[in-house]
Amino acid sequence: MDTPVRIVVQPSGQVVEARRGDRLLDIAREAGIVFEAICGGAGECGKCRVVVDPPDAVEMIGEPGRSAPSPGERAQGYVLACRSRVVGNCTMTVPVESRIIAPKILIPDQIDPCDLDPAVRAYRVSVGSDPFAVGSSVRLEDYHGPRPRIDREVFERLRNRGGDCWGIVHSDGERARIFRVTREPGRKIGLAVDLGTTTVVGVLVDLETGRVIGTGAALNRQITWGEELLTRCAFGRAEAGCATLRRAAGESIGLVLMGAAEQAGLEPGEVAEVVLAGNTVMTWLVAGRNPSPLELVDAPIDRDIVRFPAGELGLPLDPATPVTCLPSISRFVGGDVVGDMLTAGLCRGEEVSLLVDLGTNGEIVLGCAEWRACTSCASGPAFEGGGISSGMRAMEGAIERVSYDPDARAISWFTIGGGAPRGICGSGIIDAAFAMYRAGVLDFTGRLVEGAPGVRRNAEGLEFVLVPEDGSATGRAITVTERDMTYLMDSKAAVLGAVKVLLDRYRIGTADIRHLYLAGAFGAYADLESVVGFGILPRLPNAEVHAIGNGSLAGAYSVLVSRARRREAADCAESTAYIDLLVDPAFVETYTAALQIPGPPSLFPNA
Ligand code: FES
Repeated sequence: MDTPVRIVVQPSGQVVEARRGDRLLDIAREAGIVFEAICGGAGECGKCRVVVDPPDAVEMIGEPGRSAPSPGERAQGYVLACRSRVVGNCTMTVPVESRIIAPKILIPDQIDPCDLDPAVRAYRVSVGSDPFAVGSSVRLEDYHGPRPRIDREVFERLRNRGGDCWGIVHSDGERARIFRVTREPGRKIGLAVDLGTTTVVGVLVDLETGRVIGTGAALNRQITWGEELLTRCAFGRAEAGCATLRRAAGESIGLVLMGAAEQAGLEPGEVAEVVLAGNTVMTWLVAGRNPSPLELVDAPIDRDIVRFPAGELGLPLDPATPVTCLPSISRFVGGDVVGDMLTAGLCRGEEVSLLVDLGTNGEIVLGCAEWRACTSCASGPAFEGGGISSGMRAMEGAIERVSYDPDARAISWFTIGGGAPRGICGSGIIDAAFAMYRAGVLDFTGRLVEGAPGVRRNAEGLEFVLVPEDGSATGRAITVTERDMTYLMDSKAAVLGAVKVLLDRYRIGTADIRHLYLAGAFGAYADLESVVGFGILPRLPNAEVHAIGNGSLAGAYSVLVSRARRREAADCAESTAYIDLLVDPAFVETYTAALQIPGPPSLFPNA
């Protein structure tokens, strides 16, 4: 039998063993090593670059594609992990550009303590005279609610203790279950999680006070099976793929739980409920549902709260601990957006509000307590720095701010950390586009103007040089190319066109909107003047702007601590209309009209 090969992974120092001939990407997945692999291992995105030393410890699989490292880079050991099989002992370094850094956690504000009414409570148990009549002989002191279900195993424990114990009941108003038996009522702890496509963040909550006592974050281990949701859907088509992705999600949630528990100084096993908010694909995968129907336009979505026991996810908890997922609305408007809606109070407010959550997918909700409509658009990852030639995530060395000084006629920029720039992140690229437009580098259709300062021609067309070769940390110029601009214009037109479809459908003018809620990193870091100036969102003259941070996590938190919010989540999902832009003829027109900077005059009066 072949002796295994030994791979030292840097910078972590982790040592893994693998079979000779195994693909590097599979070895990394197996060992839980996470790096960029946007296309899921198809050899197309060129993002899974690693450095192997010695270079001849790996062999290339197939022909080098367009995204393969250049011969010079290959000589330095650069390879694509998805196109390389290991044949000898080596060191594999994940370079900075391939690493994914866990995000800062935007901790939710606590909700009003008067709402505190968690679904999990402890009740003193008394067992009646007929201990063999399952359920009928168990009494819970001071319990009012639907008759609780008791698993046989739990009942046996109750019976053996002769009633001198406490039953931990999960009751969400519709159904109730005694899922744990303890000697003392104990402290009730819950975990709220935002299960993102890239990152997973969570907070541990004391359910008696509503206080956040620990936080945790981890990369979603599914990421090496592709960054795009549809790539993961495709991988999850087969039963084994679906199980693999479910296990990867469970491991990621487990890491979040362990980190938060360590911070709080408690045992993870004390957690009595987990509430998850994720997009529809994440929710289906974590619940063990095959996601392939979500690849279809008319995917059936039941809009129900999803429940299952923690044991199915392999979490380090009592296997009977309830896991609750916020309901989805459509295949691209999931529980994460319902969480945003809870956080923004969209289902409670009297005034018309617009909620925008821009990630790889853009989700938009318009309405108030009486009516609501939502839609989703393919905004792409451009506003997070993805898909842009010099794009990168918001981490040290990323240009995060770009501005134009009309007096000096100069464009300037700042990086995260203040050092030499390595690329440009989402907030930076939005700023850059607006600054370039103001500087006359872009015309109103978003095309680069040949002859404008800083614009040069390369082999593929025009590009604007934001940072020349000798000013960057990598020795490569940081540029915005014609292709980047086409992509950015497409992304911004998708969002603006989607907003206009909702406004037109409900006959709402920009002046009617009183609140603009911006969720996620886009809301926290993007500069609103650039967002409106470039024409991603319309000018809303009467709107108060609220950056709600991680609204999805805050929504999961509120469901965890309040049964009223849990009902609100169910109502919100049930009674929010979904407009499918893929079949809405108006979108073609609004999208086309939005392919200008900033956009149609009806959305930008006085622009
Ligand atoms: S090229 Fe995309 S994951 Fe390797």
